[in-house]
Amino acid sequence: MGRWVVTAAWPYVNNVPHLGNLIGSILSADVVARYLRLKGEDVIFVSGSDEHGTPIEVEAIKKGVHPRELTDQAHEYVSELFNKFMISFDNYTRTENPVHKEFVRDFVMKLYKNDYIFEQDDTLPYCPRDKMFLPDRFIVGTCPYCGFPKAYGDQCDNCGRLLHPTELKNPRCAICGGPVEFRSSKHWFFDLPKLQTKLLKWLESSNLPPNVKNYSLNWVKEGLKPRSLTRDNKWGIPAPFPGAEGKTIYVWFDALLGYVSATKEYFEKKGERDKWKDYWFNKDTRTLYFIGKDNIPFHAIILPAMFIASGEPYVLPYYISSTEYLMYEGEQFSKSRRWGVWIDEALEILPPDYWRFALIKMRPETKDTNFTWEEFYRIVNSDMNDDIGNYVHRVLRFIESRFNKVVPTPHEYNSEDKEFMEYYLEAPDRVGRLIESFKLKQALEEVVEVARRGNQYLNSRAPWDAIKKNREEAETILYVAANSVATLAVLLAPFVPESAEKLWKMLGLKGSVHEPGRWLEAKKPLLEPGHEINEPEPLFKKLPEDFPKKAKELVLEARKKVMEKRPPLLRWS
Ligand code: MF3
Ligand code: ZN
Repeated sequence: MGRWVVTAAWPYVNNVPHLGNLIGSILSADVVARYLRLKGEDVIFVSGSDEHGTPIEVEAIKKGVHPRELTDQAHEYVSELFNKFMISFDNYTRTENPVHKEFVRDFVMKLYKNDYIFEQDDTLPYCPRDKMFLPDRFIVGTCPYCGFPKAYGDQCDNCGRLLHPTELKNPRCAICGGPVEFRSSKHWFFDLPKLQTKLLKWLESSNLPPNVKNYSLNWVKEGLKPRSLTRDNKWGIPAPFPGAEGKTIYVWFDALLGYVSATKEYFEKKGERDKWKDYWFNKDTRTLYFIGKDNIPFHAIILPAMFIASGEPYVLPYYISSTEYLMYEGEQFSKSRRWGVWIDEALEILPPDYWRFALIKMRPETKDTNFTWEEFYRIVNSDMNDDIGNYVHRVLRFIESRFNKVVPTPHEYNSEDKEFMEYYLEAPDRVGRLIESFKLKQALEEVVEVARRGNQYLNSRAPWDAIKKNREEAETILYVAANSVATLAVLLAPFVPESAEKLWKMLGLKGSVHEPGRWLEAKKPLLEPGHEINEPEPLFKKLPEDFPKKAKELVLEARKKVMEKRPPLLRWS
């Protein structure tokens, strides 16, 4: 049995995530975590709210509240939304939790003692009107690399480069919009250059996908610069270094360690104090990271560098699955322009499985992908309903009406029967291989294909004719078809967990479709002759023809409703 830690990038918790955020990391990670558990693997799936950092501090200042008030409200609300989307976290925690804070302080002190941290004066932007240093997202300016006019002090959101605030052209204060001064302030730096050789060696030998690997290799080869690990922010984890009173730890060095601390917290709650080390200090553990492309440098360089510098035997990332951006009807999601669909709104419109299915089909794996209502409608009506829903219904209805709900006994198989059976009993392996190579979109396509072939099989074998001439032949056909539906239920489980469970129950099968090991069971017929199924019901609903036209109106209605349900600090005025 393999051991896995599946992680999803921790969302900043000043906002409700939108559909792009959901598919970008958390939903993708959930599909893989669910699949691995179904295979009987040992899996810990963690994430949490990224609460610190300047965007949240800025937002709280603007709203006139303490950041903690904002993150308390948001964390609770967002966690509940992920539950509703059936995200199967073992621990969804937060960076304000005490286990995490203590872990981060201990960890960076290890780096300090190992001589990977040094003190130096840094030249940093200061706003004379707001009377404060302007770290990271408190300062905006033009990116020196790509010319993007809204780059921040730590990173350009357009080209993804990590920046130092002095590199920005035409820098301005993000709070008041005014010009800035540069002043000197003492900071504690992470000595990345010292880790250059080790990082290079690891990257070269790693199993990371080419986009992540090449990007990171280029960056390391250009020569790494020390990164400041402290900030003059008030909101954050206090820096533990001697003489660093009043400074906090840079949000990225804090949040990245959440993957480990969340595992630690998970086991501590179960009374197994040191068990987290069986995962993170075990060279056989495979750690998976699901992130948006802007997060690549942090996961492929900074985090491994921290692990190496700790001197402890951490496993370095096994795979980093990074997504491109999901666009909404041709443009980027934008809260300020109210452009997009947020995940609480989505749930007012349709149940989670519809979103899960459609988003996985639209997963921006290799390029930015456009979410359109036309495409959403097509996926729901044709892939989910015409292909899967319809196939399932045809088979189960036939068994109900002609065989009194009893799965018939097969007799002689003809070549078509054999071929179809072989085909679907091999589907768990085929789909599994795609999931294990993180091609989730193609994996789901392969699942839909099972239903499509099923429909073709029924059309070609026409049991409704066969039953009139030769009952045994019809029995064989329906035995074959019934078992393809059972296998399909398991194949659907990582993607649409609620519907898969519903189908499992309709089939009258015992236990849950989500039990460990099911994936392997589905490689053999799951239904015995004589097994009784339950009353079949439609698995999915079709969308009305005018849905694509009406969708934006539906979103506005949903938006009105959720604004009342959201905690006050998350409402849009
Ligand atoms: N909050 C960051 C973002 O949304 C991601 C943090 S990932 C972590 O871009 F690992 F550092 F938590
Ligand atoms: Zn740029």
